[in-house]
Amino acid sequence: MAPVGKPFPTPAELPFDMADTLHLWRNARIAACDPAMTRLAQGALLTRGSRIEWVGAERDLPGEYRPDEAHDLRGAWVTPGLIDCHTHLVFCGNRAAEYAERLRGRSYEEIARKGGGILSTMRAVRAASEQQLSDESLPRLESLLAEGVTTVEIKSGYGLTLKDEAKMLRVARSLAHALPVTITTTLLAAHTLPPEYAGDPDAYIKDVAELWLPALHEEGLIDAVDIFCEKIGFSVEHARRLYDSAGRLGIPVKMHAEQLSNLGGSLLAASRGALSCDHLEYAGAPEAEALAAAGTVAVLLPVAFFCLAQERKPPVAALRHAGAEVAIATDCNPGSAPGSSLLLAMSMATRLFGLTCEEALAGVTRHAARALGMQGERGMLTAGKAADFVVWSIGEPEELGYWSGFNPCRSVIKAGRRVS
Ligand code: NIG
Ligand code: FE
Repeated sequence: MAPVGKPFPTPAELPFDMADTLHLWRNARIAACDPAMTRLAQGALLTRGSRIEWVGAERDLPGEYRPDEAHDLRGAWVTPGLIDCHTHLVFCGNRAAEYAERLRGRSYEEIARKGGGILSTMRAVRAASEQQLSDESLPRLESLLAEGVTTVEIKSGYGLTLKDEAKMLRVARSLAHALPVTITTTLLAAHTLPPEYAGDPDAYIKDVAELWLPALHEEGLIDAVDIFCEKIGFSVEHARRLYDSAGRLGIPVKMHAEQLSNLGGSLLAASRGALSCDHLEYAGAPEAEALAAAGTVAVLLPVAFFCLAQERKPPVAALRHAGAEVAIATDCNPGSAPGSSLLLAMSMATRLFGLTCEEALAGVTRHAARALGMQGERGMLTAGKAADFVVWSIGEPEELGYWSGFNPCRSVIKAGRRVS
């Protein structure tokens, strides 16, 4: 892994000859994570610079290729680089004291209503400099990278002023210069109502939709917009207004939906072609059908389910039946999901939600890419995709989603370069 602070060159910054170098990664077992979930027992990958040029059975490698370098993977399993498609990993401080309160029986909602929860992290984030925010967030990102995560989505939502949301988003973007990872950023100003707008959520959403969104979009700081649609968050009508503005600017939308109750958010999000609806514990068959029909990914967040000691589970059977695409993410945040392990989220998704290990693997690769609108370039080992892949010390891919609290990642290749 590149040392912190040393910029990791993006493909465009590499000297031409290096960017064009052909590398053969041979003697691999490949879990391609394409729609057929293809597995190759004697596979090889050919990368040209930061892209995959060719993937297949090693004996079928076309003779015209003359690789500049060959790497023997000694029969190890290779998957695409993992994608954590829902995190709030840029924040300061922690909420261990609130966790202790919850252990004594107070609910997450009660703490939020009393001015704790998201607002308590907001106070810490507002008080922090960009450097502090970055310094506190880096170890969480490093922990993901050590598990083979090569793409991470990071949401704002703890600044809740235009200036502090911009600060969070800038820090999120800058992390991709410190570590070998692709970062996408999502504006989640509609996370909770900040004190400046107490009692007037309509005015807040109006400012976010009509002033903040265009300004941050203009600065190139956001790839998508999200909203916490919930009794302690915002209403479906607020989401409609935010989405109208995002639609005018051509910004993709997402939603925290149906986590603690069913307000009908995911039906709206699906009707607007949202990239994803996330959480979904209180969703049912109608929501599953709508998500599947719209191609909106259902992102399940089992660590939040676990840490909030929720009882109601997302409608996995209905999602399967409807043919919805299901992704898994960490939801890394200081309140509902204080952790930074996508492998643990996978094993919780299998044990707690009943996903198969194969579904969990698709959920952190192909489906996670789609939840970020990146399905054209990431999430599968096929020709033309980014050369991001992981070499594992496992006997079979089912071990991903099986181990809980053990990391079998052996080596990570990011944009065609071995980074760990
Ligand atoms: O995804 N539900 C809203 N947002 C986060 C929690 C944020 C927090 O508690 O700080 C979530 O669970
Ligand atoms: Fe979240």
